[in-house]
Amino acid sequence: MKHLSLLLALALGLVTAVSAGPTVIECWFVEDADGGRLAKKPAALLLRQGPGRIPPRPDLDPKRYLRVHDPTGTLQAAFRRYPRSAPTPHCEMSHYIPLPASVNWVKGLTPEQSCPRALDGTWFMVSMSSPVLSLSSLLQSQTEPQPDPGLITMATAVLTVITHNPTTRIQLGQDALLDLSFAYMPSTPEATTPLAPGPPPFGLEWRHQHLGEGHLLLAATPGLRGQMPAAQDGAVAFAAWDDDESWGPWTGNGTLWLPAVKPSQEGAYQATIYLPYLQGQVTLELAVQKSPKVSLMPSPLVWAAPGEAPPELVCLVSHFYPSEGLEVEWELRGGPEGSFQKAKGQSWLSALHHHLDGSVSLSGHLQPSPVTTAQHGARYACRVHHPSLPALGRSAEVTLEVAGLSGPSLEDGIGLFLSAFLLLGLFKALGWAESTVRALKTTLGKLPSSLT
Ligand SMILES: *[C@@H]1O[C@H](CO)[C@@H](O)[C@H](O)[C@H]1NC(C)=O
Repeated sequence: MKHLSLLLALALGLVTAVSAGPTVIECWFVEDADGGRLAKKPAALLLRQGPGRIPPRPDLDPKRYLRVHDPTGTLQAAFRRYPRSAPTPHCEMSHYIPLPASVNWVKGLTPEQSCPRALDGTWFMVSMSSPVLSLSSLLQSQTEPQPDPGLITMATAVLTVITHNPTTRIQLGQDALLDLSFAYMPSTPEATTPLAPGPPPFGLEWRHQHLGEGHLLLAATPGLRGQMPAAQDGAVAFAAWDDDESWGPWTGNGTLWLPAVKPSQEGAYQATIYLPYLQGQVTLELAVQKSPKVSLMPSPLVWAAPGEAPPELVCLVSHFYPSEGLEVEWELRGGPEGSFQKAKGQSWLSALHHHLDGSVSLSGHLQPSPVTTAQHGARYACRVHHPSLPALGRSAEVTLEVAGLSGPSLEDGIGLFLSAFLLLGLFKALGWAESTVRALKTTLGKLPSSLT
């Protein structure tokens, strides 16, 4: 029993160790080098430390091996939920110099002329990106004596800006939510504005970049008065701290909401959080998509005489976005040469037709090769591939019926009988009509010619 509980504890320990995500993030330290070049040197961030000593990294300069103290828990939480299947994040860091923001509308954040002493020390900016997160964190290295100065540099994450959804794909016309949260814990209380305790004022800015052009989409400074630029494109942001602690740490939500997204709103979105002398920034991507409707004509049947080519098939691919990445394939299913093959014939695509909502349509054409009687009952299909569709794409099909080959079924028999019956009736009626007309003519013939 004792052994069992020990095993259980071990197993539990393993599970937590595994699900706790990486403890060390490998990084590149980027610096200016001679001749205006950038030099990249290896670096690492130690996020968590098990019991015992700091894992030694003799391969790294201790100035570039950082033990990260994370008072807001944001980095820890992000890597605890980091999926093991996701690629390790790309990480870069550089030196950072606290400066007042250059944009006018956040001038109110730094009314005093000089940078407070609490911001003294060495600062680093760390940027990480991967398909599941994108973040930027400002780290301040502690000025107090370090436990093991020859081994590692202690640094505190003061401001972290993060998105858990760096790439958003949205259906054309739907509302988009661009996820953004941030966390702040000054290294000393005086580092914040010496006003009332509580969450400090901050600035939030969203910029949009598309086809090389950038513009301010939205700016907000909750807790500060001042002239704000008007929001564009109906953008709304949840610019607020989530908590109301007196001394921090504070976490905030800067998620952007964009109503009824249009293709022109695609591109990069840059979110910046402004705090006194500190600015954290992440970039997100918004991609707009619309999956095509697919239909095939003539529908439902294609008639052709054996040895002759069936009429041209037209595959309508309508209202999709973007226009890039669309492919139309032609298949013949259930034919004699196997259940599935490429359809033979000449195929081509029409020009694009543009719609008001930004989506496009086109048609794919196939002039099939002559068909044999053995192909009776096979189906022609057009299969459409587009980035908005699953890998198999979307298809539409029509059945090929070779003329004269649908053997008389029961329905056909009844049809024939009915037709014969009706025809007989028709002939009878015609015969009657003819005799009537003839009779009339003879009557009329007897009248004076002026009347006819
Ligand atoms: C931020 O606010 C939006 C809108 O209320 C919400 O959907 C989102 O979950 C919030 N994010 C966080 C991290 O709480």
